[in-house]
Amino acid sequence: MNENIQGKVIVITGASSGLGEAAARLLAAQGARVALGARRQDRIQAQARELTAAGGKAIAVTTDVTDRTQVQRLVDAAVETFGRVDVMINNAGLMPQSLLERLRIDEWDRTIDVNLKGMLYGIAAALPYMQRQKSGHFINVSSVAGHKVGPGTAVYAATKFGVRALSEGLRQEVKPYNIRTTIISPGAVATELPDSVSDPDAGARVRKFYAEQAIPADSFARAVAFAISQPDDVDINEILFRPTRQEV
Ligand SMILES: NC(=O)c1ccc[n+]([C@@H]2O[C@H](COP(=O)([O-])OP(=O)(O)OC[C@H]3O[C@@H](n4cnc5c(N)ncnc54)[C@H](OP(=O)(O)O)[C@@H]3O)[C@@H](O)[C@H]2O)c1
Repeated sequence: MNENIQGKVIVITGASSGLGEAAARLLAAQGARVALGARRQDRIQAQARELTAAGGKAIAVTTDVTDRTQVQRLVDAAVETFGRVDVMINNAGLMPQSLLERLRIDEWDRTIDVNLKGMLYGIAAALPYMQRQKSGHFINVSSVAGHKVGPGTAVYAATKFGVRALSEGLRQEVKPYNIRTTIISPGAVATELPDSVSDPDAGARVRKFYAEQAIPADSFARAVAFAISQPDDVDINEILFRPTRQEV
């Protein structure tokens, strides 16, 4: 159990796999009450049952973050069940990669809808509750690609640079409400994320890179727990971490 995590109500989008799932498990083990959101209902329901059976408190709410009413329903369900929302982790994301000249315009739209607009919908759903509570914490997931851009990563990087810009703007605006904001930018972490690269050339490159470099998803969960567990007057604004062996 962790003193400043225990009892907190934490909403996590993209909780059905990878980073979101790992964060939910660690936070629930440290005494948080978690609300799990993702589209794959079977996965989040199974996880909620497992966490509850282990003595934790968890609910699962099927959520597509591109639909703002569904994101609102997720946060409302957390408040109805647990009475408040202390932390909103905007984690759901995709990483399609391809050269711009391939004009995969539908993928560009989808990446922006999930990675950027999905995060904004998370802010819209939780911010009014946090303002009323005069406390809260947003954790927004960016990436090393939110700090660096390369060929094939322009659209993904644009969304992840955007996550950082939005988070910094949010940080400055929510001072009167005692709300903390944290950007977490992981390097290569072993998850299902490379599966979202549909371009065959980029996909082969990304899968090879992840097979050689990626570290376990617990690394992310520990960064989340570090930020949340700080005393209330300490706001960890930005965490950038990579596998020790990762160069880019
Ligand atoms: N792994 C890395 O190396 C890495 C590095 C930097 C940043 N990140 C970021 O970390 C975040 C999590 O990714 P991950 O690595 O854990 O990949 P992942 O295993 O593929 O997980 C992605 C999560 O996002 C959810 N998701 C995708 N589209 C969604 C939608 N429309 N509505 C709701 N949920 C949606 C997925 O759930 P459903 O499919 O069930 O909806 C899944 O739970 C992403 O924002 C990613 O950009 C990851």
